[in-house]
Amino acid sequence: MKTARSRGSLTRNIHLVKWVEKTAELTKPKNIHWVDGSQAEYDKLCREMVASGSFTKLNEDLWPGCFLARSDPSDVARVEDRTFICSLSKDNAGPTNNWENPYTMRRKLKEKFNGAMQGRTMYVLPFSMGPVGGPMSQIGVELTDSPYVVVNMRIMARIGIDVFKEIDKDEQRVVPCIHSVGAPLAPGQKDVPWPCNLEKYIVHFPETREIWSYGSGYGGNALLGKKCFALRIASNIARDEGWMAEHMLILGVEDPHGKKTYVAAAFPSSCGKTNFAMMVPPTGLKDWKVWTVGDDIAWIKPDAQGCLRAINPEAGFFGVAPGTSQKTNPNAMATLSRNTIFTNVALTPEGGIWWEGMTDEPPAELLDWQGHQWTPEIAEKTGTKAAHPNARFTAPASQCPTIDAAWEDPTGVPISAIIFGGRRGATIPLIYQAFNWSAGVYVGATMGSEMTAAAAGEVGKVRRDPMAMLPFCGYHMGDYFRHWIKMQRSLSRTPRIFHVNWFRKDADGKFIWPGFRDNMRVLKWIVDRVHGRSQGKETPIGWTPHYEDIEWKGLDFPKEKFEKLQFVDRAAWKSEVIGHEELFILLHAHLPPEMIYERELLICRL
Ligand code: OXD
Ligand code: MN
Repeated sequence: MKTARSRGSLTRNIHLVKWVEKTAELTKPKNIHWVDGSQAEYDKLCREMVASGSFTKLNEDLWPGCFLARSDPSDVARVEDRTFICSLSKDNAGPTNNWENPYTMRRKLKEKFNGAMQGRTMYVLPFSMGPVGGPMSQIGVELTDSPYVVVNMRIMARIGIDVFKEIDKDEQRVVPCIHSVGAPLAPGQKDVPWPCNLEKYIVHFPETREIWSYGSGYGGNALLGKKCFALRIASNIARDEGWMAEHMLILGVEDPHGKKTYVAAAFPSSCGKTNFAMMVPPTGLKDWKVWTVGDDIAWIKPDAQGCLRAINPEAGFFGVAPGTSQKTNPNAMATLSRNTIFTNVALTPEGGIWWEGMTDEPPAELLDWQGHQWTPEIAEKTGTKAAHPNARFTAPASQCPTIDAAWEDPTGVPISAIIFGGRRGATIPLIYQAFNWSAGVYVGATMGSEMTAAAAGEVGKVRRDPMAMLPFCGYHMGDYFRHWIKMQRSLSRTPRIFHVNWFRKDADGKFIWPGFRDNMRVLKWIVDRVHGRSQGKETPIGWTPHYEDIEWKGLDFPKEKFEKLQFVDRAAWKSEVIGHEELFILLHAHLPPEMIYERELLICRL
């Protein structure tokens, strides 16, 4: 094995070099490769993965610079039940996280990682979440034995030499991340296209700000800059330093006079965050534009004037492919048209790709996400999907046609509104505005979404997912609400807080609201409210628009239908508020008193 110091080290940082050596002693890789982040390095790794069978190069004329990876069928999604927050005290992790004593967990991890990288290369991958050197950015180094991780991280984060330089500058604090697919190779043993281990550990140590991930090569389990760092570890850093790490998209709305208003929005998964971030306004509002800053994560910090500014710490989109089409999200389709890595989508005979919902008619034949023959007839008989429901594209944000001019501004964009939302068939109106910050925190803390068939659980049952952070908050959720309440003190002007629900159904079970582009009508009202241009109607749950406050040009949507969509049914709301209790009981010891007051106030208003 080449030692870290003798060959290839791209840093003068002695702590980093020592840590790399120590990890190599434990994991025993065949080689160590210091990642420079260059295009040449990326191309070489992709070529090697094509040669080894891990990647399929797509037809260059149809999908230039694109590759397909097929995962092991057992390694297709984040594994929440194998995700741990190992704080010193169990109480700090709270009841919504899996906890394990850090000493016990370290012992377990040392065993698992002992020799875990045998026969493989260990990549030393430095990455910056946020523009390199930016005042809101944070640095990590991921030691990984997966070249798939290296190439995906090159799209999702800023990586390589510039980050090493930053680390060298003033011995910056770095978040150490160790990742192994957990599949050592004996001498002469042939590798498989997607190595992984049935036993998985996704572990966070909040006090020492460390991440250890074992057994999975997939998405949020393996690209450690994303959920592990930018949300679970960063939420801890943010609480300590007085800022916010949120599971939110960021977009800019440009009005017909060219004035831009930025908003951040938190929706649980499968509620259309990427579509909303890249929305094309309907023809009736064609003078309005939506610009994309980010589709998944926002780091939000008060500036010297007490205004909240947000950066997207990522550099790419790791989006769900099924359902994405020219109709639902033409901007995503343009973004992923080149230089994109697809995982678990179907392959066409021409060397193109397909997934459910990409076109109305499926191709006549395909290889499905596992490489098996697939035809619409087979699908009808067996119910087999061509693409895995959680198939993904990893695409550079810079390729998005609506990418905002300020998306890489290291000081972020000013946030004027925060939007919460969920998938709710009943009770929750299309749009309402919380009365103030603390009422808004209550709205976010109690938000929920109906479970879909894609996830384990009872379909249609409401799962509470506070601020869409249930799987991502790296400490006690009650303390997280407290942190939200406290943030107001550092603000001279708090963003207005709204709640949306695109999914309310009528008595026949049909969606009342057309959604997609027409969501722009709701966004326009939000912007109007932020700038004091719309009066709003007071209801027990907050401010709502009058029918006349919404721009209806190009959409036939009668007033009676709108009234149904906006109806606040007091009886239904009373049981909704009872539903909030479940989570509050769980968190009671750490719940800030404001949440109890807000609940009481809401009950009184109802
Ligand atoms: C994601 C998620 O992948 O929220 O963004 O699961
Ligand atoms: Mn997400």
